[in-house]
Amino acid sequence: MVISVDRYGVMGYPVSHSRSPVIHRLFALQTAQNMQYELLQVPPEKLESAVRQFQRTGGKGLNVTVPHKSEVARLADTLSDRARSAGAVNTLVFDNDAIFGDNTDGVGLMRDLQQNLGIQLEGINILILGAGGATRGIVQPLLAANPASLTIANRTLSRAKGLADHFGAYGPVTACRFEDDLSKTEFQLIINATSAGLKGEMPPYPEEAITASTQCYDLSYGLNPTPFSQWAATHGAARSVMGWGMLVEQAAESFNLWRGTRPDTAAVLKQLIITA
Ligand code: ATR
Repeated sequence: MVISVDRYGVMGYPVSHSRSPVIHRLFALQTAQNMQYELLQVPPEKLESAVRQFQRTGGKGLNVTVPHKSEVARLADTLSDRARSAGAVNTLVFDNDAIFGDNTDGVGLMRDLQQNLGIQLEGINILILGAGGATRGIVQPLLAANPASLTIANRTLSRAKGLADHFGAYGPVTACRFEDDLSKTEFQLIINATSAGLKGEMPPYPEEAITASTQCYDLSYGLNPTPFSQWAATHGAARSVMGWGMLVEQAAESFNLWRGTRPDTAAVLKQLIITA
């Protein structure tokens, strides 16, 4: 008798640092799912053939990470609204010959902010640092929670303006530079969505935007505090959190799309941070 195991995996380049295999194996154990989850290092020029081969050989679904998130959207036969709005896909579901592309990053962040951290988003002023792909994926879900304002600050003003224009129909979004005077607005939440920390760089983040009631959230995470989370703590933020929770929550949403069951994220988050 041949016992077949449903195959999933994460494609990225590089990908060896990814925690997704550990997270999905913990989810599978917890929910008693018979599945395997692989780490797949795929350079950009091989993305399409690797996805098609994975599908052809019985793969059921994939996570897609840096640098493939926008490119892989082209391979999907259908996209969810949230993937289309984010202009990026982090989850593929293979259903016979069809490929469905979704993006669970935004909902992952929202769950971590609202449910795990208990942050009330309605009526607050939010500042996002950075205007790249990560920002693009979180603006619409944040606006859907009805903040009073959302400001996108970026080193390159034109990119922040581009996103503010693009998402302006969904709520009050404005764009500025890090150097602009941000002291007139009291920000209750600052989210770092730049990739500066990953490269060991420290942009001139706007110190005056932090007050004693500001919560700071870094989409990046690490074993040690990230440069942004250190900066936030040093400048007196009420709380400074790294994006481990978003990582686990976006994974849970992908897992639910594939397996139709939602794992308990709190247990996995705890285990992940302890064993990281
Ligand atoms: P993506 O592929 O997700 O778009 P990216 O192009 O690397 O990623 O951009 C990520 C974000 O980090 C951008 O907002 C980028 O600022 P610019 O638009 O000015 O390039 C920001 N970023 C990266 N390194 C930075 C640094 N050293 N200082 C300030 N911002 C930085």
